[in-house]
Amino acid sequence: MSKELLKWYDLNKRDLPWRMTKDPYKIWLSEIMLQQTQVTTVISYFNRFVDAFPSVEALALATEEQVFKLWEGLGYYSRAKNLIRCAHKVVTDYHGKFPENIEDLLKLPGIGPYTAGAIASIAFDKPEPAVDGNVLRVVSRLYCLSEPINESKHQALYRQKTMALMTDRPSDFTQAMMELGAMVCTPKGPSCSSCPLIEKCCSFKSKKQANFPVKVKKVKQREELIGIAIVVSGQQVLLMKHNNTGLLANLWGFPRVLLDETALDSLEKQMESHLEMEFDFQPEYSHSIVGKAHVFTHIKWNTILFFFHTDDKISSEMPLLEWVYLKDITSKALPTALKKQLVIIDDEIDRMQNAIR
Ligand code: ADE
Repeated sequence: MSKELLKWYDLNKRDLPWRMTKDPYKIWLSEIMLQQTQVTTVISYFNRFVDAFPSVEALALATEEQVFKLWEGLGYYSRAKNLIRCAHKVVTDYHGKFPENIEDLLKLPGIGPYTAGAIASIAFDKPEPAVDGNVLRVVSRLYCLSEPINESKHQALYRQKTMALMTDRPSDFTQAMMELGAMVCTPKGPSCSSCPLIEKCCSFKSKKQANFPVKVKKVKQREELIGIAIVVSGQQVLLMKHNNTGLLANLWGFPRVLLDETALDSLEKQMESHLEMEFDFQPEYSHSIVGKAHVFTHIKWNTILFFFHTDDKISSEMPLLEWVYLKDITSKALPTALKKQLVIIDDEIDRMQNAIR
């Protein structure tokens, strides 16, 4: 099967600029550019980049501004930032020579399992799998694999199935698999009659090409802006036990409210209104700061911490309120979303109390 694949590749491969070289620097650069960007777009960026920085040493000497200028239009600027960091590391830690083994490649900024496999196989001809979206599609159709390709727990299976096809020409094998996915085994309407693997393809034989690959629908993460009230009285702070519905049900925490950024009321007013409506409580507002964000499964909380002080130690049983000494707060089993705010809160309360004094 692999022989057929390579034969097809030799005859049909596109002449892409990064296929004219075995220079690991250029292979690496092309792979970083090809993450999230189409081949046709990458070609001219790649050529301009290599002209400006012909070696990893040249890139390591570049300023961030020069690199960003050449990157303009490719988007995902974290890739460009990592590009510079990676170039520095290759020059300082590896004397300007990209390492050949996967473990060392994975230590470089911006290089994950796919890119490490691509560099090791394409540049150094090591029999390592490089499984990108194209390869996942080819393999899932070839073997009718119904394990969702976008679940990380199945990545090992797809790597193993790819490795089982590996040939004695790892560099061409990796590129051939990608090329087949890009040119023949396309997401919609694959050209099966031109496919070198047609005779072995499970999904072709069962006419189920359209059923593979399987993907799980990921619920899009919703972002919420949450106001958190830190109400201080002397050395104590107000905690409440949340009711038994919703996120963080039944857990202790600070009073909180979902803020509406589009409302006419300022965020601070919304937090004050919440305290007034929920507890008939009007502590003295001090200041607010941006808190730490927290990601739950489907929701991301962006937080703002509102600091108040008061002499009015309100009490309530529904919901249950408690004034807790700051030093004892960690014993209260707070959820992580709130526990991570404590470092900031300690400092801010100190500042607030010094200002009052
Ligand atoms: N997509 C990712 N890497 C690629 C490569 N080396 N050639 C073509 N398409 C790719």
